[in-house]
Amino acid sequence: MSVIVLGIETSCDETACAVVKDGTQVLSNLISSQIDLHRRYGGVVPEVASRAHMEAIGPLLDAALTQAGVGWDDLSAIATTFGPGLQGALLVGLTSAKAIAWARGIPLVGVHHLAAHIWANKIANPDLPMPFLCLLVSGGHTSLVLVRGPEDFQTLGETLDDAAGEAYDKTARLLELGYPGGPIIDKLAETGNPKAYDFPRSWLPGTYDFSFSGLKTAVLRMVERSRQAGIAVKPEDAAAAFQRAVTDVLVGKTIKAAEDHGIKTVALAGGVAANRELRERLSLEASKRGWNVSIPPLDLTTDNAAMIAGLGCELYQLKRFAPLGLAAVSRMPLDVLKGA
Ligand code: KG4
Ligand code: ZN
Repeated sequence: MSVIVLGIETSCDETACAVVKDGTQVLSNLISSQIDLHRRYGGVVPEVASRAHMEAIGPLLDAALTQAGVGWDDLSAIATTFGPGLQGALLVGLTSAKAIAWARGIPLVGVHHLAAHIWANKIANPDLPMPFLCLLVSGGHTSLVLVRGPEDFQTLGETLDDAAGEAYDKTARLLELGYPGGPIIDKLAETGNPKAYDFPRSWLPGTYDFSFSGLKTAVLRMVERSRQAGIAVKPEDAAAAFQRAVTDVLVGKTIKAAEDHGIKTVALAGGVAANRELRERLSLEASKRGWNVSIPPLDLTTDNAAMIAGLGCELYQLKRFAPLGLAAVSRMPLDVLKGA
């Protein structure tokens, strides 16, 4: 019998609902973005996010079912993100999911947001061999994760300060380019000269960790120096040089970690996986070595609920049902899922 799971994602600034069948068939994948609401503040305002989730979630749930062509009675389970994320935002999705589980008498499945980002690779490429090494790069996280199964994630390294997406967003703010910074810098970088500025790369040798705060400071110093000297900064050159510095380290450390662990399958996950240069360079380095590379389509890399419902299908089959008292957890390492 088919497994049909309704997924809900409200951990940050996107309200998302999706229906996935048998783990990989995405029947609907809807997102109500709040980017315009937060733009004027230059970042996500938690209280504003929670209120917007409240307004969006009801109609979005109905639309996700309608578009999928399934009714409430067809659902095997309801899966929702329970962390990590903004507490108030998480509670909207979690409480809605609990109400649905209770009212329909179906299991509630709690999904780890980062595990779901990584699992998007198995939805996009069901035959992806495990273990694989995933570079998870989002607005809140940057990690290298060894993936052995839907509950078996080993974090090899992570950022010591800013996440990659955060570095993009903060740098875009410094350069007065707008919000969110990732897509804007990515686009500008296409026409810029990556050698125009010599920004630092933080290699942190001997570890698989990352650090982007030095790079951000270097951009700030460059902007200040240029201002004092009365020299205009060419935004496309600054964007291209910044992006080259970020991708050098992300790609270099991913390849090194895969080599060290004898892994020949690498994957990308999280919002920054939408980055053109990162996708191209990781694919190139992996294919040079004859490795498999998995890069999900854009609608599965940025925050979405298909990744929640997809991983929810796997966890449903493992009978990982959550109690209706499941709490929202704002911080939660991936490694706690192992043997949970
Ligand atoms: O995974 P995500 O959608 O939300 C979080 O869970 O954080 O990631 C959002 C982040 C933002 O920082 C955004 O600037 C960045 O992903 N991003 C990009 C691109 N598209 C989105 N960064 C670089 N290049 C892009 N094309
Ligand atoms: Zn995310």
